[in-house]
Amino acid sequence: MVIRGIAAILTAMMGSLRIRDVLRPAEVTFTWQGRPFRAPVGESLATALLEAGIRCLGEGPGAPRAAFCMAGSCQQCLVRVDGRPAQACLVPVRAGMAAEPA
Ligand code: FES
Repeated sequence: MVIRGIAAILTAMMGSLRIRDVLRPAEVTFTWQGRPFRAPVGESLATALLEAGIRCLGEGPGAPRAAFCMAGSCQQCLVRVDGRPAQACLVPVRAGMAAEPA
């Protein structure tokens, strides 16, 4: 399975999208498809998922979808957060958030 997207490519090359040596807020737990993950509160859900190794955010026409622009423009990161459609790159992680593919 080929996952395309600038964020996925950068994560594969750099290992992390997070800037090193920056103080971050406390981590909280959220779930993706029922599986718990931890990320700093307020970090974008797309970044948190990429950091957790989750690149496929859903299925598009004939190919899996992954975060691409990380800026709210491409709609490739569409997911469901607490049952509602949302763009993962624009949604801040919060404690107890339940996310899944759209
Ligand atoms: S990654 Fe493009 S809109 Fe979210």
